Amino acid sequence: MKISIISASHRTKSQSKKISNVLNNNLLSLQSDLDIYEIDLADTSLPLWSSDKKKGEGVWGDTWNSISDNLSKSDGFILVVPEYGGMATPAAKNIFLLCGSGEFAHKPGLIVSVSSGNGGANPISELRMSSYKNTHIMWIPENIIIRNVEEFNPGAHGNNIPEWLDNRIDYVLKLLLAYASNMKPLREIINRKDFGNGM
Ligand SMILES: Cc1cc2nc3c(=O)[nH]c(=O)nc-3n(C[C@H](O)[C@H](O)[C@H](O)COP(=O)(O)O)c2cc1C
Repeated sequence: MKISIISASHRTKSQSKKISNVLNNNLLSLQSDLDIYEIDLADTSLPLWSSDKKKGEGVWGDTWNSISDNLSKSDGFILVVPEYGGMATPAAKNIFLLCGSGEFAHKPGLIVSVSSGNGGANPISELRMSSYKNTHIMWIPENIIIRNVEEFNPGAHGNNIPEWLDNRIDYVLKLLLAYASNMKPLREIINRKDFGNGM
C-alpha cells in the first residue's frame, strides 16, 4: 500500500516538512511495508496552474509526470498544511488544481494543519469546503492540528504540546490506513470519463 505525504509550506526546511518526516516514521512503525512518497511543495516549487501545463513542456514534462504518477499510485494521502493569513497555503490550493487526472479520486485524505501559535483551524475548514469537487479526494472525518509546532519534537515536546497528542496522531494514522485499504474496491466503479468533474 502506498501513502503520499504532501508538505504544503512555501518555506524550505519548514515546520510542515518536520511534521511530514515524523508522520512518515510513525506510519512505518504502524506498518513497516508501506511505500511512502513524501513531497515537499517548497522544494519542488511547482508553478501555479496555467494552461501551459497541457503542453507538457519544461516542469510539466518529466518533473510533473513523476509527481502525478506517484500520487496516482497512492492509496491514501496526508496533507500537512500550515495556516498562512488565516488560510490554507496557495501551494496547497495549487496542488488540487494541478491534480486534474484523478490522482486523488475517491481516496482517503488526512489533513494535518500546523501553526506556530494557536491557529490551524482555518486551513482545515477551507480545504474541507473547497478542495474535493474535481479532485474527488475524500477527507476522513478526523484531522490533526499541531499548535505551537516549533515545540513539537517527539520524545522531547515543549510544555505547550498536550501529552495526549501523540496518541491521537497514532489513532488517526491507523484510521487512515484502514480507510486506504478498505476503500480500494470503490475505485473499480469509478467513471471518470463521464463524471470526471464534480457538480
Ligand atoms: C505568510 C505567513 C502567514 C502566517 N499566518 C498565520 C496565521 O494566519 N495563523 C497562524 O496560526 N500562523 C500563521 N503564520 C505562522 C505559521 O503558523 C508558522 O510560521 C508555521 O511555522 C508555518 O509553517 P511552515 O514552517 O511549515 O511554513 C504565518 C506564517 C507565514 C510565513
